[in-house]
Amino acid sequence: MATPDLPIIPEHVAVIMDGNGRWANKRGLPRAIGHSKGVEAVRETVRAAGEAGVRYLTLFAFSSENWSRPEDEINDLLGLLRRFIRRDLAELHRENVRIRVIGDKQNLRGDILPLLLEAEETTRLNTGLTVVIAFNYGARNEITRAVAKLAREVEAGRLKAEDIDARSIGDNLDTAGIPDPDLIIRTSGEERLSNFLLWQAAYSELVFLPEYWPDFNRQLFFDALRIFASRDRRFGGLSAKTAAAAVVG
Ligand code: FPP
Repeated sequence: MATPDLPIIPEHVAVIMDGNGRWANKRGLPRAIGHSKGVEAVRETVRAAGEAGVRYLTLFAFSSENWSRPEDEINDLLGLLRRFIRRDLAELHRENVRIRVIGDKQNLRGDILPLLLEAEETTRLNTGLTVVIAFNYGARNEITRAVAKLAREVEAGRLKAEDIDARSIGDNLDTAGIPDPDLIIRTSGEERLSNFLLWQAAYSELVFLPEYWPDFNRQLFFDALRIFASRDRRFGGLSAKTAAAAVVG
């Protein structure tokens, strides 16, 4: 949905949804309430991304480091994800949303993995917005798994070490087939990537917003798109303006 004030729409937006706990603390509420408010913000963001014409929306739902949180909080987060998939899957499917899951799928407990796989399978042929759920995700773990896979190919004689390049590494990441994020948004005022999409973020524009995730909404999503549209992306080369001036001059 390119408009005069949004001349460029990022194809892929990735979001680090941070600040649920602080949002709740500030109000004297349990952290679990912050997380459940966070799911409402997820719903609004999915709708806003679809409306804007974004093709891929990646959500950092649960990191491989989140297992170090207290057991109760882990259960709250897993419960919310479970409920989100059970309750929202039918509607997302109707809306032509495709779900992809990235992260380490080994050794996951209970019913979470089957649910995530069911969400992927049910929506596999949909052609609208792709929502990528990063679950049990850590970029170093993802890169390590990809490199180990390539090493096994070399060991088996199916691949030569000198043929390994950025493309073959990318093709073995969980995000294979998904374009790199053009824009990464992080809420809550923290300004770091925290082991999120480290390979894929090589040329991403980063937008850090002060609001806590439960307060995130359509308006803030469009504000971030506006900031993105105002950036001059160079990918290591010259800006379009500088390049044009060099040709003329
Ligand atoms: C950060 O807040 C947020 C998370 C750890 C997870 C985000 C998860 C959800 C919004 C719910 C489930 C997701 C989906 C896709 C339905 P924090 O607890 O780190 O906040 P704090 O830094 O203020 O403590």
